[in-house]
Amino acid sequence: MCGIVGYLGKNSALPVLIDGLKRLEYRGYDSSGIALYLGDDIQCVKAVGRIKELEEKIGGYGAASLLGACIGIAHTRWATHGEPNENNAHPHSDCSGKIWIAHNGIIENYKELKKKLEENGHKFRSETDTEVIAHLIEDVYENELEKLKSSQPLFSKEGKNEKSPNPLYQGGIKNEKSTQPLFIKEGNNKEGLLVSSLIKVLKMLKGAYGIVLIHKDYPDKIIAAKMGSPLTIGLGDAETIIASDISAIITHTKQVIYLDDGEIAEIGKNDLRIFNIDNVKIKKEVEEVDWDIGEAEKKGFPHFMLKEIFEQPESIMNSIRGRIIEEEGKVKLGGFESVSQKLRDINRIIITACGTAMHAGLAGEYMLEEYAGIPTEVEYASEFRYRKPLIDKNTALLAISQSGETADTLAAIREAKEKNALTLGIVNVVGSSIAREIDAGAYNHIGPEISVASTKAFTSQVAIMALITVYLGRQRQMSLVIGERIIKELLLIPEKIKKILSRNDEIKKIAEKYMNADNFFYLGRKYNNPTALEGALKLKELSYIHAEGIPSGEMKHGSIALIDKNFPSMFICPQDSVYEKNISNMEEIKSRGGRIIAIATEGDGRIKEIADDVIYIPKTLEMLTPILSTIPLQLFAYYVSALKGLDVDKPRNLAKSVTVE
Ligand code: G6P
Repeated sequence: MCGIVGYLGKNSALPVLIDGLKRLEYRGYDSSGIALYLGDDIQCVKAVGRIKELEEKIGGYGAASLLGACIGIAHTRWATHGEPNENNAHPHSDCSGKIWIAHNGIIENYKELKKKLEENGHKFRSETDTEVIAHLIEDVYENELEKLKSSQPLFSKEGKNEKSPNPLYQGGIKNEKSTQPLFIKEGNNKEGLLVSSLIKVLKMLKGAYGIVLIHKDYPDKIIAAKMGSPLTIGLGDAETIIASDISAIITHTKQVIYLDDGEIAEIGKNDLRIFNIDNVKIKKEVEEVDWDIGEAEKKGFPHFMLKEIFEQPESIMNSIRGRIIEEEGKVKLGGFESVSQKLRDINRIIITACGTAMHAGLAGEYMLEEYAGIPTEVEYASEFRYRKPLIDKNTALLAISQSGETADTLAAIREAKEKNALTLGIVNVVGSSIAREIDAGAYNHIGPEISVASTKAFTSQVAIMALITVYLGRQRQMSLVIGERIIKELLLIPEKIKKILSRNDEIKKIAEKYMNADNFFYLGRKYNNPTALEGALKLKELSYIHAEGIPSGEMKHGSIALIDKNFPSMFICPQDSVYEKNISNMEEIKSRGGRIIAIATEGDGRIKEIADDVIYIPKTLEMLTPILSTIPLQLFAYYVSALKGLDVDKPRNLAKSVTVE
């Protein structure tokens, strides 16, 4: 939640920061702000709403005066403490306006810290937890500075640079040599003071943070710190970009350093120092990112969501490519090799995830139990982390997360590790926190998913669940024939998805017909119970229509009371082992005057007699149907939202990556 970007380098910071914010907007978009080191001062602009509001306020890139800044930080917010208004938008500052900070995460003990700071005379401008960090640094820094001054009398005579001009950053964007002897003298005296003050402050904080900060007395430095919220440093050609994720970096460089929890980075013009909370230097690997920026653009589609829906034949292929040994009916998962023996020994799996990823996990539960014979449960990560999970060394915890940053999922992994469980993952974002914390895992390989409503990640997660099922199943009792059958069907899925996508216009017409309903049921059984939950979630989050996903068989125990002609039901009813049961449930709704849209198997003529509208999907193996049956539901939700004129890619109140509890 919340996106942060920092820039320091040879170029103008403003365009890089604005572009970075736009790429991170999916992480939160209720307000934004930017702080730039300009001349000998720091200027801050904030706006409520999307990044375009901020841009308008700044005057676009034509804001000539601001273009002179070569160092700055920026933030796009998803409110946690304090409503979305300009005061609460980041960056936040201390009393003196010298320290500016952008923060992603939550400071849990901010209230007590704020109280003490207020007692010490600090004046707060916002209701945020973040602002305490700026004031705390000010407090500690000023104290330390006083001590330094009294121990170094020379400093107070020579070192007055508060008003000293800074030609390095005045109107120019060149990497010229500093001509400020006074500053350098004072800088030498104060060298390390900002960092040591920050360290003291970080030790006082409880909670999660990704922080970037600039200080007026340090015109060529950005300090970054990470605990629980992601932060990556991009190393460009004489420029450094710090961001919540690589999408804000890859247009500039593919060389990155992923900060780990407890790490602090001091970024200068010509140097980068990474150290821990005890100020001990840490040697970090520079890694090369293989994402292509083209993958993060709309490519002619009106919305990222539609582009991502249409990418699914390819993204599924990318998820399974190179992972199949067809003739042996086996699956090869490179990331699982190091723990393959341990995987033979596990006798229980707990799948944990949030939102859409959790629905993919539910489909996985059916697969693992039916085909790999391993008892499996699925738990919301937000529940798992606070209950008493009964796990031991023969339990594997499988976390599913597109972003790899979801705070609850990460916490569940840490809890399972505490209890000695083997931790596994299905993650899309390479180098994300979850990817780095699990013992073993499989990447989705689907490229960036930008639209807040998850689509291609879901189908890929289900496809990878099928791969894991074959992998674990073949380690156990699964026969060669079954292994081959699942693999063969999986390989046919991309072509079948193309067929569903060719029915796009038909689905749009159905969306037009039902778009004014106020409520919806989504009903399915067995493998398509998760599909029903996912379909309802898509409609809710995109169109703000109330939609409930229920197992079809459960409906008669209460929910059916709501049915009338204004309350339509979306039935996921392919010709599978529960087809007849579904048909009976459909009849029950029909006889009470409810309208029905059915997702059915091609060639099923019978369903037309019951349902008002039918969307056909090709036949596949029952366990793989969620991949196909979800696609019409994604398109349906997309069109209802687009036809209503809503912001499809960024629905209200949501964020793509939820890094708070
Ligand atoms: C947010 C997103 C959902 C997503 C969920 C889990 O709520 O809006 O689309 O399913 O987080 O995210 P993850 O990145 O862990 O898959």
